[in-house]
Amino acid sequence: MAAEGSAGGFRLARPGVGDARPSGAPPEAPDVEEPLAPDARLDLSLDLAGHDVDRTLAALDADLIGLAKVKERVREIAALLLIDRARRRFGLESSRPTMHMSFTGGPGTGKTTVALRMAQMLHALGYIRKPKVHTVTRDDLVGQFIGHTAPKTKEAIAKAAGGVLFIDEAYYLFRPENERDYGQEVIEILLQEMENERANLVVIFAGYPDRMDRFFSANPGLSSRVAHHLEFADYTHDELMGIAETMVTVENFRFDPAARTAFAEYLTARMTRPRFSNARSVRNAIDRCRLRQAKRLVEAGRPLSKADLITLCDRDVYGSSVFDEPAGEVVVACRIE
Ligand SMILES: Nc1ncnc2c1ncn2[C@@H]1O[C@H](COP(=O)(O)OP(=O)(O)OP(=O)(O)O)[C@@H](O)[C@H]1O
Ligand SMILES: [Mg+2]
Repeated sequence: MAAEGSAGGFRLARPGVGDARPSGAPPEAPDVEEPLAPDARLDLSLDLAGHDVDRTLAALDADLIGLAKVKERVREIAALLLIDRARRRFGLESSRPTMHMSFTGGPGTGKTTVALRMAQMLHALGYIRKPKVHTVTRDDLVGQFIGHTAPKTKEAIAKAAGGVLFIDEAYYLFRPENERDYGQEVIEILLQEMENERANLVVIFAGYPDRMDRFFSANPGLSSRVAHHLEFADYTHDELMGIAETMVTVENFRFDPAARTAFAEYLTARMTRPRFSNARSVRNAIDRCRLRQAKRLVEAGRPLSKADLITLCDRDVYGSSVFDEPAGEVVVACRIE
């Protein structure tokens, strides 16, 4: 792995020379610190950190359904850091790219999940020392009394040091209606640390879009230190079905065809109900399907096959209370002859 300045580097390609490696260098352990001559060539496809990044990006594509815009932004950020590494190898001085970010999107749209992948990628590129995300909310940062907030915030920053500090529902830090709110103190400390600790800490502010917009408008200093804004759209019905299939498969279950149809109906209804939380609602629904499947199998009172244990059937889905209050179309469909 590419810990700071260690593994993961480029191999040399000199113009007109077939072998991309500097003579004598073992292929497994290229010397990353070796500066490059002005006429050298860097082959990015041979960058070992690039391979780790490729793996992370491929896993992001494979594991997470949809999120096309987010995945695109993650690729752009990876490219920026790869090129920054390459420039440094040629001795081209420039300021380190700022990596503080904001992730805005509705509930269950994948913000926390992508933050973990982002940390892995930043680590693979040597930008942070550890592929870790320390998640905090207002209560972890703001103290109850005078003098309590600064040590609390500094402790959180110390825990996150070398990795990512993920501030969930960041707008709760800012309470303009309360003049004596200690949240403002947190914001001031963060402003400083985001500059000072640039080399040591990446801060990601996360939350729902409207409130985050207001938060950044009210705190232009923070906003200007956030280089990358990633927007997480709500998932479509098709994407939620894809997410359901992925989750079911990962857990070694499968929908039979009738269950698949039932789950699609379930989603149509659930998406219009209160507190719908995108992929999280899908996960919760699948957990409840598993509960109903377990009850059905126990009550069957017969020997069970592997297929029995794997299969979720339509009864496991239709047991949901979402079907107790039929949506408008269903009622209309009951024709009175
Ligand atoms: N695109 C996706 N593909 C597959 N699974 C997903 C996807 N997005 C989210 N999930 C899953 O949905 C669940 C919720 O995701 P996550 O916690 O990342 O959302 P969030 O945006 O942080 O939500 P909140 O705003 O409520 O904190 C997790 O179990 C995650 O693995
Ligand atoms: Mg989250």
